[in-house]
Amino acid sequence: MVLSTTGSTDLVLQITDKFKDIFGTTPIVVRSPGRVNLIGEHTDYNQGFVLPAAVNKAIYMAVDRRKDNELHFVALDLNLSYKGNLDRLVSSPMHWPDYLLGVIQQLQLLGYSPGGFNCVFGGDIPSGAGMSSSAALECATAFAMNELFGFQLDLLTMVKLSQKAENVFVGVQCGIMDQFASMFGRKNHVIRLDCQSLEYEYYPFNTDGVRIVLLDTGVKHSLASSEYNTRRRQCEAGVSLVRKHHPGVESLRDVTLAMLAEYVAPVDPLVNRRCEFVVEENARLLAATADLQRGDISAFGRKMFATHEGLSRKYEVSCPELDYLVQQVQGDPAVLGARMMGGGFGGCTINLVREEAVDALVERVAPAYQAAMNLELKVYIGQIENGTSREA
Ligand code: GLA
Repeated sequence: MVLSTTGSTDLVLQITDKFKDIFGTTPIVVRSPGRVNLIGEHTDYNQGFVLPAAVNKAIYMAVDRRKDNELHFVALDLNLSYKGNLDRLVSSPMHWPDYLLGVIQQLQLLGYSPGGFNCVFGGDIPSGAGMSSSAALECATAFAMNELFGFQLDLLTMVKLSQKAENVFVGVQCGIMDQFASMFGRKNHVIRLDCQSLEYEYYPFNTDGVRIVLLDTGVKHSLASSEYNTRRRQCEAGVSLVRKHHPGVESLRDVTLAMLAEYVAPVDPLVNRRCEFVVEENARLLAATADLQRGDISAFGRKMFATHEGLSRKYEVSCPELDYLVQQVQGDPAVLGARMMGGGFGGCTINLVREEAVDALVERVAPAYQAAMNLELKVYIGQIENGTSREA
């Protein structure tokens, strides 16, 4: 079943009305989108390249100032609320307030002083699907604080502090891709971001007749975050081995396959496999952006399959459900490319599918997935949208 989206205007109205009901004042409203990543996975924290885009699923956040130092948050979709105080930012057992609190803490550390405020948020980013609902929530908070208290922060500062909030307060060692995509997204464009220099370029994603189809496994395996951190350490271990011979090497960005073969493979074959994937993935991304510029979406798609193979076999962050979904579409002439997306161990596959064949594909794959995994397949059509914005 292809899930339809509630219009964004409806969501803005819903959130605004709810805010007025609860708090009795008129809020400002911010929209912050989730993201897809076309290619370049597990490269951001290795100072490599990524190619994400913001999508038509977002968090909507309504905020208004309070006269005291209190923080009142309502998570509409969870039907939960939180009350806290600016002077005591401690992590909440409910977990979701931490994404907001972490951002407030980072603002304070940068010398800004947000006042007390009321907040109602909700949205339509499927949680656990690997579309970065957490980054969207952090970016929404940073953007809303900036609007509400007039800090005049630039987008990149808000991206960095949102990422830091996740690293420090939430405790996930994520890279910068998700927050960057959510904040800097541009309609119908993908962003080629160099995570070393933070230089970025927009590439038109004019894929007439092709749809970005997300197939959601509906699973999120519990090892996701511990294995994520393990991969980071393995990449660092590879860099250290190379650095003994090449002191100038700072990250896998500076490492070649030849260096890995010489200095890492003989010492630690597992670390070598991880690092090989990252070095190959960066090269693949650069070639894929050239495909995009030439308008060769088929060549681009083939690289997505190659990325999946690498993520599954060398980086080992896939899972049976993701592999199954990619196998199901491989060889289908209507599917130009497919791979697991995001951190791994669950979430979605991203597929480039010929428009006229989307329904037939879903009708074929959904029952097969249900039969094989005993899970319902959820399907989203990703449209590329602008990044975080003020809506009201
Ligand atoms: C998660 C992280 C990102 C990135 C991806 C893998 O989404 O939040 O920073 O590392 O995994 O590419």
